[in-house]
Amino acid sequence: MSPSTDTGAAFELSDVSRARIDELVAQYPTKASALMPCLWVIMDELGWVPPGGIDLLVDKLQVTSARICEVLTFYTMFRSEPQAEYVLQVCHNISCHIMGARPLIAHLEKRLGVRLGETTPDGKFALEGVECLGACGHGPCLQLGRHLYEYLTPEKVDGLLESLRRGEIPRADTDRELED
Ligand code: FES
Repeated sequence: MSPSTDTGAAFELSDVSRARIDELVAQYPTKASALMPCLWVIMDELGWVPPGGIDLLVDKLQVTSARICEVLTFYTMFRSEPQAEYVLQVCHNISCHIMGARPLIAHLEKRLGVRLGETTPDGKFALEGVECLGACGHGPCLQLGRHLYEYLTPEKVDGLLESLRRGEIPRADTDRELED
């Protein structure tokens, strides 16, 4: 995947996010070291990093756009194109595979009416397969933004989808761990 070259609409980022980027740049020993957290700031507000966001970070971090694109396209959690409202990233690596990832993915495909790698026609859900979410002993699992849902079953997935269709993102066990 390479970042979109379509600049589309004018790039808009809130003053709050711009101030946060400035704070992060000041915290790191070199400006370039703040690249990943700065990408997260843009992702958190816009859901993806548009070309204007890359230009902003070139200016703030004094790195090349090629360097930013390398990082942006290497990690599956970063987006260089607009995404579905909810991107469900299901781990299909070996541990989760043994713990039932394949039937779980089949269940999601059936419930959403799409195949792995596709987005629902209404743009609400994207279903992706990813390689290891760092929860190998807690599979099968899926990630939604910063939420990691573990020990999944078809019933739990149905509950998750119902909540998301209501516009609610249910709390994941890992959310609690992060707050403790
Ligand atoms: Fe699924 Fe590591 S193999 S989280």
